[in-house]
Amino acid sequence: CELIYVGDCGSAGRPSMRGSPFQFRLEAIVVEMQDSKSGVKCSEQKLNISTIPHVITGVDVLTWITNKMKTTPEEVQAFGTMLVAYGYIYPLQNHKKLVMCNNTSLYRFQTPYFWPTQNWVAEDSDYGTVCQMGWWVTIRTGVGTLFGSGTHYSHLHDWMNHKWDFIVMQATEQYKAGKERKKPDRVVFDCQERAYWIVNRPPVSNMFYQQAIMRSKVKSSVSLGALAKYVTTYKNHDPFLAPCLPSNPWQTDNDTYWTCNTRRVDVPTKMRVERWSFSLFELLSDLRGRDDFKTFLKKEFSGENLAFWEAAEELKWGTGSSMTSKAETIFKTFLAPGAPRWINIDGRTMGLTVKGLEHPHRYVLEAAQTHVFLLMKKDTFFRYLKSPVYKDIQKKAINPDPHNFSPAQLEQNAQSRSLGIHPIILWQQEEEEKAKAAAASAPVDVKAMMSKIDRNK
Ligand SMILES: *[C@@H]1O[C@H](CO)[C@@H](O)[C@H](O)[C@H]1NC(C)=O
Ligand SMILES: *[C@@H]1O[C@H](CO)[C@@H](O)[C@H](O)[C@H]1NC(C)=O
Ligand SMILES: *[C@@H]1O[C@H](CO)[C@@H](O)[C@H](O)[C@H]1NC(C)=O
Ligand SMILES: *[C@@H]1O[C@H](CO)[C@@H](O)[C@H](O)[C@H]1NC(C)=O
Repeated sequence: CELIYVGDCGSAGRPSMRGSPFQFRLEAIVVEMQDSKSGVKCSEQKLNISTIPHVITGVDVLTWITNKMKTTPEEVQAFGTMLVAYGYIYPLQNHKKLVMCNNTSLYRFQTPYFWPTQNWVAEDSDYGTVCQMGWWVTIRTGVGTLFGSGTHYSHLHDWMNHKWDFIVMQATEQYKAGKERKKPDRVVFDCQERAYWIVNRPPVSNMFYQQAIMRSKVKSSVSLGALAKYVTTYKNHDPFLAPCLPSNPWQTDNDTYWTCNTRRVDVPTKMRVERWSFSLFELLSDLRGRDDFKTFLKKEFSGENLAFWEAAEELKWGTGSSMTSKAETIFKTFLAPGAPRWINIDGRTMGLTVKGLEHPHRYVLEAAQTHVFLLMKKDTFFRYLKSPVYKDIQKKAINPDPHNFSPAQLEQNAQSRSLGIHPIILWQQEEEEKAKAAAASAPVDVKAMMSKIDRNK
């Protein structure tokens, strides 16, 4: 088949002839496949309403490979699919699936310009152009749209400022070339370029690169120091390194360990209380710790931040259907001017959050939540650790004695093993307790209270 459009797609083509020996061998076969006499049969085919030249079918390709290589159908199939996956052959019908079908599905040979051995790096800006406004979009909708206004445009403009002139020039050229092209050619060009970008999609988006670059770097001595500190802090809490007190239920068939470590147990173990002091994250991750922290905050009359943090967690992990109503409640409770539990966050975060809540999604409170978390971490957390509330729980906490069961007792335990509590029951209990706790910490409704007082008079 004759290869058309070599060197089109006027990107800043910088082909360099590098590639692995494996690729060169593959390409030799692809060239052979295109031989006008002994190659894969190609013909004109109707696709949608256009007639496309030089089209091959999946079954013809696979048959050709079978005759050529004399190997198993599985290998032939795999080889054919590899040719598609590497971008030597591209599908005309199902663009998204890079496989070779053993039927009359239509394919074409990719022009050598796009072959992997050309090795030109797909740049983010190229991909961005293709994806966000799309050369084919440009070709179809006209440059007018491209040069229109809109946030998309200005975002792209900021992002690729230094390349902008080049991209505009390129898009204009593409547009002109596109208009002059015949319909079938345009369809072919579309498929060809689309196939190229599906194969050569940059692996991660620009944002992640930027985040990676922005991430602060530390010297290895510093990071090793941090690691050593972490290990020292946590070593007694590592179930592999430290014993499990009073005993490991899986080994001794005695479930005391589980009963004295339920999520909202009244008297926690000393280990658990110690762990709360490691970080605010540890404290909040443990429901019992969180409850204790709440008690402290209640005494200080400063529960809003934690309440907001919890509401944000609810929104993040809760059901999608309740999202809108939750967002509304959160707005009314914490963010609206004069809200009963108004939280004090900086104006910029507040503005962004309030704006985001108009179209709520799971992560809409992320920034505000982080802000509130840092506030608690910097100040309230340390006051909690020094407070009588924490000292009290430290004193109350238990340190179970190890069990040291004799072999006979172990035997006995194994025989009187109980079923334990069903997780559903546990869950129900927790939900009830949660509801109770929520009711107890609900904001005081001044109006209702006043009317009660009035009635009492
Ligand atoms: C052919 O039409 C289908 C739907 O009608 C469309 O999804 C597909 O992209 C078209 N193919 C080409 C090559 O334009
Ligand atoms: C393709 O299908 C034909 C007939 O259905 C079969 O004989 C052949 O082995 C298949 N080829 C591959 C590679 O699966
Ligand atoms: C070819 O097979 C694939 C799945 O293997 C199927 O999706 C496609 O519709 C088939 N195409 C034709 C033209 O039979
Ligand atoms: C577990 O051991 C303790 C003694 O340490 C005992 O009081 C308790 O009844 C045992 N529990 C079960 C379920 O066997």
